[in-house]
This record gives sequence, C-alpha cells and structure tokens, in this order.
Amino acid sequence: MRPILRRRLACWAKQYYITSFRYSEHPTFHLPVMTTANTSDKSRALQIRPATSSDLSGLIALDREITGLAKRKYWKDTFVRYGVRRRPPQYLLVAVHRGRIEGFIVGEVRAWEFGEPPCGWIFAVQVRPKTRLKGIGTQLFGTLCGAFRRAGVEKVRTITARDNHLVLSFFRSQGMMAGPFIELEAALD
Ligand SMILES: CC(C)(COP(=O)(O)OP(=O)(O)OC[C@H]1O[C@@H](n2cnc3c(N)ncnc32)[C@H](O)[C@@H]1OP(=O)(O)O)[C@@H](O)C(=O)NCCC(=O)NCCS
Repeated sequence: MRPILRRRLACWAKQYYITSFRYSEHPTFHLPVMTTANTSDKSRALQIRPATSSDLSGLIALDREITGLAKRKYWKDTFVRYGVRRRPPQYLLVAVHRGRIEGFIVGEVRAWEFGEPPCGWIFAVQVRPKTRLKGIGTQLFGTLCGAFRRAGVEKVRTITARDNHLVLSFFRSQGMMAGPFIELEAALD
C-alpha cells in the first residue's frame, strides 16, 4: 500500500476510535472535549473522561465540598458499579482540569423499569462551586447524552427536588422538561 494511503487510513481509523465511546475496552481513553457557547480558555483545556480508581478520593472530596457529607461507602460502591471497569451503559464521568476533578456526572441506561423501554437516567451531576457557570455542567451533560445516544436510547430522564431551583434551571437549560410520570412515596412505619 502507498504510504500516503496508509497514513490516511490510519487517520480515519483514529478518528473512528476517538468518536466511539468504548471506554470499558480502553480504560485510559479520553473522550473528546465538547465546545460550548461560553467556552473559556479554562474549559477548553478541560478533559471529560470515565473515572478511574485514582479519582475516588478526589470525587469524595469534591462531593464533601458541595454537600458537606463525606459519603465514602456510597462512592466506593458507586465506583464498583459505575467505575471504569464497568461496561457501558453505566457511566461515571469526571471533568478534569490540570489534574483536579472539577465536576462529575453519573448515569445509566435502564430498561423496562416503570414499564418503559430503555432510556438514559442521570443520577447525579455536580460542579465545584468556584468553577460553575463556565459550561462544565453542560459539557458533562452533553458527553453523557452522547454516550446514551451511542448506546441506542432516545430519551434521557432525571429526578430532582422540586425546590432545587439551581439544578432545575440547569436541566431546563439542557432542554429537559417535566415528563409523563409522577413520583409516589410513603413513610414506612
Ligand atoms: C447544576 C450544576 C451542575 C451546573 O453546573 P455549571 O457548570 O455551573 O453549569 P453550566 O455553566 O454548564 O450552566 C448551564 C446553564 O445552567 C443554568 N444555570 C447554571 N447555574 C445557574 C444558576 N446559578 N442560576 C440559574 N441558572 C443556572 C443556566 O441556564 C446556564 O446557562 P447560561 O450560563 O448560558 O446561563 C452546578 O451548579 C452544581 O453542581 N450544582 C449543585 C448540584 C447539586 O446540588 N447536585 C445534587 C443533585 S444531582
């Protein structure tokens, strides 16, 4: 094969590899960074990638900074369930800048729960308070939705507290609206 043709084929193969979200087979693979309307220099250098076990302490610290609670057991269990060795459709993505975790998102494709065909669920999204409103949440959301699309689903859902106006505004800005379900609950005596 002529060298120029070989180089082109290698380039196409690389491009295909980069646009495929197959992180369980390539644990060190980095997702392409998405650009947003308000992209700054800082967010351009941001890397969105699947979490690895070395991210565990950084994630616990970030979550504690935001919620005031150090949920070590919860995060250890989450890593077992969603961490890098898990196969899609379970995702735990981190936004990293200069080696520091600035945000994360957790989601999964779930099928036939509540009688519904497969759809993507977002369980948590958080961005470090000092780096908010720079598009990091949007990039995390967009990257996860891209992975959901590649997993073959057409809808994304989440649940949030009615009075959490910040999270509601964020999800609303991503095009999410009230869905067709209502949540029911009861106290167990
Ligand atoms: C919600 C959150 C993830 C958003 O992250 P972010 O990186 O600041 O989000 P972005 O910069 O991508 O903002 C996207 C849009 O969300 C909306 N938004 C974000 N923060 C907002 C705020 N404080 N007030 C109103 N709207 C807001 C805006 O519409 C914004 O678009 P704009 O900047 O063009 O106006 C972040 O604020 C956070 O971690 N909050 C706490 C989350 C939490 O409580 N999680 C627990 C339940 S999962």
